[in-house]
Amino acid sequence: MQKIPFLVHELREEFPILAQNINEHALIYFDNAASTQKPRSVIDAISYFYLHDNANVHRAGHQLAMRATRSFENSRAVVRDFINAKSTKEIIWTKGTTEGFNLLAHILGTQLQAGDEVLISSLEHHANIVPWQMLVETKKIVLKVIPLQDDHQLDMDAYRTLLNKKTKIVSVTHISNALGIINPISEMIALAHEVGAQVIIDGAQAIAHTPVDVQALDCDYYLFSGHKLFAPTGTGVLYGKQHLLEALPPWQGGGEMIKSVSFKTSTYNELPFKFEAGTPNIAGVIGLAAAIDFLNSYDRKVLMLHEQMLLAVAESALLAIPDVEVYCAGIAKSGLLSFMIKGEHHSDIAMLLDAQGIALRSGTHCAMPLMSLLDNSGTVRVSFSIYNTLDEVKVFIKALKKVLLLLK
Ligand code: ALA
Repeated sequence: MQKIPFLVHELREEFPILAQNINEHALIYFDNAASTQKPRSVIDAISYFYLHDNANVHRAGHQLAMRATRSFENSRAVVRDFINAKSTKEIIWTKGTTEGFNLLAHILGTQLQAGDEVLISSLEHHANIVPWQMLVETKKIVLKVIPLQDDHQLDMDAYRTLLNKKTKIVSVTHISNALGIINPISEMIALAHEVGAQVIIDGAQAIAHTPVDVQALDCDYYLFSGHKLFAPTGTGVLYGKQHLLEALPPWQGGGEMIKSVSFKTSTYNELPFKFEAGTPNIAGVIGLAAAIDFLNSYDRKVLMLHEQMLLAVAESALLAIPDVEVYCAGIAKSGLLSFMIKGEHHSDIAMLLDAQGIALRSGTHCAMPLMSLLDNSGTVRVSFSIYNTLDEVKVFIKALKKVLLLLK
């Protein structure tokens, strides 16, 4: 497919929301790790569906229902190709990464015994901690945590030591949402498989920043949200290897996930519908496919280089400011970086930047255990996307210097 040449100012025009002022300053949106903005083609795809095709899917034979079903299932094929899954049966719609974790913890939990171990890392988001803690309570499983090295990367020696025959699940993030660190997941997956554990990868941050090939990774499950990938909120994907998903019980009961129902018993539908009870977010997943089409219309290598350039420039400029501490400086990161300023509170920094039109997140980033390890109540996080510019990074650095003067 012929790619659109990447010119950041032209690409920005596809994101109408960016062209606005906040507090009389041009908006600079650096909160992409929390949620990305949506291109016109995604907004149009959703509007088109509601204007022309809206009906429920897989249930009726009328024209609208057939069109809706066709677009809905075409979206599943788009996602299959995007992550190189073998089959659309391996693509389960969820409302986001968090729902994916809850689904997996619930159904995998039915097969875990007391004393079985689940291994997560110190870098995890609450969504990859709390559902397993619930299993500690209800199933008496043992939850173990891979520690960090002094430079905040995962301690791979400790990981090797923690893996053992009782390890049934390893559940780790691809890219840390709080620090931007890229975990060595290929190696981690191979090591986990050596002890017979299944591996779940949290791809919520990675999916927008790096190509993902689930077959090359050989992960058992890969989860991501649509809204961090230029798609609507309330959409997400649970990828699972077909033979594993087939062996698992369903999660929620209801319409669509069944083959037959009587008052005595029910039989369940085949994949992927077994895990999709109720009317799904039809317009949302059509929007998700439009978002992937949008991303695929550019050369992703060029988009990645652009983001890396923004990250490198921001990091070196921050490091040059006295009293700024950048987490994981000099370590390969993707999409974002976290920093703090000696003696200042992260939320004051974020508020004073917002006054200058700069949107970013400060706080614990839904990773309170990590913040405790860093001995910190939170960080300021700058997170980039393909529509951010070098000029925005320069304005941000200038604005931050102004904030520091104000706080002195
Ligand atoms: N997980 C999202 C973040 O990191 C909400 O901000």
